[in-house]
Amino acid sequence: MALSIALTKGRLEKNTVAMLETCGYGIDCLKDKGRALVFQDSIKDIRYFLVKSNDCITYVEHGVADIGVVGKDTLIEGSKDYYEMLDLEMGKCKFIVASLPENELFSKVGHIKIGTKYPTVANSYFLSKGMDVEIIKIDGSVELAPILGLCDGIVDIMETGTTLKENGLVVLDTVCDISARVIVNKASFKLKRDEIMQVINDLKGVVEKNASGNQ
Ligand code: PRP
Repeated sequence: MALSIALTKGRLEKNTVAMLETCGYGIDCLKDKGRALVFQDSIKDIRYFLVKSNDCITYVEHGVADIGVVGKDTLIEGSKDYYEMLDLEMGKCKFIVASLPENELFSKVGHIKIGTKYPTVANSYFLSKGMDVEIIKIDGSVELAPILGLCDGIVDIMETGTTLKENGLVVLDTVCDISARVIVNKASFKLKRDEIMQVINDLKGVVEKNASGNQ
């Protein structure tokens, strides 16, 4: 049976395509893609489409995609009606707490405001620290918020650390590590179990190969 795979555009895209290529899939169309969003594998009976991370979950949950590749950061914040099948061990980054050096977030007395794209992560982190903070939801360029005085600190993802550094922010704590995951629609897993497991096992082989190459 044919499979549809939703791939997250941007940060994870290049590594995902490289992994599919190592699996021997026919993904040349994804390497020279222009502005196209839907692609047919030239070897396998697989259709790929490129979507934003939050939409990847939506397409998988609704069964439009049988499989999705998406960051754990998005999964933690989003709804959970799918199977999380595999850690691809790429797209690695961390959830961090950061602020301007002078803000002294953890010793500040009084009302503390935290800017973030990830309110669930931020809430549970500060709850675990016994700190009562106000969470302000921001959609992007979160590093700007403490600079402009919108908040005292941020919870965000850090990959290279360049964005924090170039905006004069310092890391105060690490919340958790994150990486790209493979998710699967629940009904698809019943109907197309063999085809889906083939993809999962192919990708797992690449994860193991990458891991042994890094030793
Ligand atoms: C993410 C994140 C940081 C940046 C971190 O933003 O929110 O801003 O990447 O990466 P770095 O540690 O390698 O500098 P993204 O690029 O997804 O864009 P956005 O701010 O518009 O959400």
